[in-house]
Amino acid sequence: MNPRAEASRTVSPSEISPAEMIGEHAAILRDRLQAISSGLFPPSATKTLRRFGSAEVARMVGVTASRIQQLAVEGLGPPPQISANGRRSYSLADVHELRACLEANTRTSRRYLPRRVQGEHIQIIAVANFKGGSGKTTTSAHAAQGLVLKGYRVLALDLDPQASLSALLGIQPELEVGENQTLYGAIRYDAPCPLSAIIRPTYFTGLDLVPANLELMEFEHETPRALSQRRLGDPLFFDRVLQAIETVADRYDVIVIDCPPQLGYLTLSALCAATALLITVHPQMLDIASMSQFLAMTEDLLSVVSDHGGKLQYDWLRYLVTRYEPQDGPQTRIVGMLRTLFEDAVLTAPMLKSSAISDAGLSKQTLYEIGRESVTRATYDRALESLEAVNTEVETLIRTAWGRL
Ligand SMILES: Nc1ncnc2c1ncn2[C@@H]1O[C@H](COP(=O)(O)OP(=O)(O)OP(=O)(O)O)[C@@H](O)[C@H]1O
Ligand SMILES: [Mg+2]
Repeated sequence: MNPRAEASRTVSPSEISPAEMIGEHAAILRDRLQAISSGLFPPSATKTLRRFGSAEVARMVGVTASRIQQLAVEGLGPPPQISANGRRSYSLADVHELRACLEANTRTSRRYLPRRVQGEHIQIIAVANFKGGSGKTTTSAHAAQGLVLKGYRVLALDLDPQASLSALLGIQPELEVGENQTLYGAIRYDAPCPLSAIIRPTYFTGLDLVPANLELMEFEHETPRALSQRRLGDPLFFDRVLQAIETVADRYDVIVIDCPPQLGYLTLSALCAATALLITVHPQMLDIASMSQFLAMTEDLLSVVSDHGGKLQYDWLRYLVTRYEPQDGPQTRIVGMLRTLFEDAVLTAPMLKSSAISDAGLSKQTLYEIGRESVTRATYDRALESLEAVNTEVETLIRTAWGRL
């Protein structure tokens, strides 16, 4: 909509009720956002992923670049695409194929496909904190993609009606997500549909998504009614997410749940379904105060859940320091305090604040997607090093839960 049309839609505040005014503003903003979004991402455009250079692939898979070349010479594995200047590159699907090929042709006990095997239970990681902007969505997206690049089969579950994770993973929630196409479709009290019908593959091969939109709010409204009408023997609300997940668990090694910034029925159900909890914390005093409330409320709610027979056991619970600026004295003191108070429960690696991550976020991309060419090399390398340190710790926790370490 052009600015003039927008202006003519704005009515003098005195003539309309606050509800009408807010509704009007919502419509104006939605139109404008759709216009911006379709400029940046025309509805016809689907997100695509860049290709990965052979050195990058070798690092990812954990072999030398010459081992990958040798595979190609032997006629094994996917052939690389070779550019005019001789640069070899692979798609993410090729990287997965390379892993499988290395695994099939290894003469040692080394494994290239780290997928879970029988006896290793699925890891369901809830990324939570009710402080808005603490880095939940950024952490979820980068952890999910990082684990895919390490060879795991990952499902990203967007539980936030704001749908930022879905947007980051290439779905326009207001345009591309219809009725019953969010987790709500699988956990609704009347006529739920199978989660398998809601899951979508993404452009990031190996990463699937359950997208979100405002429809998820229905669960917050319907649960109190369902609780009041509950008959003996009916499953409790906090089991619904886990029950839905169990129907597709065989297909994945890890599920990453991006929780909304509040402690409603949805978040509580995610906390009950989870096998691990990652609490993102931006090291500022107000955020810490808010986190203290979050922890106290979570404790209250979770004890109510266990009083009602809810299963609650985490393989691990960790705090991740996000958007950290080590040169900032007050932040450093807060991180020191957290480490003293919570000791090993704080991940050793913090996620550094980086313009590479915030800039990538502006164009709905992650650090893995933008590649080294998009920002200055030093900026990219510093952010990637920090991210890799975080994701490696998360992977170690997963492998420890599987009893591998
Ligand atoms: N390491 C980082 N460096 C720079 N910017 C970051 C970093 N992590 C997150 N951000 C930026 O901070 C903002 C908030 O991050 P994010 O959306 O991940 O938080 P959130 O906890 O999911 O927020 P909400 O509570 O609204 O869901 C985003 O603009 C994101 O790009
Ligand atoms: Mg978020």
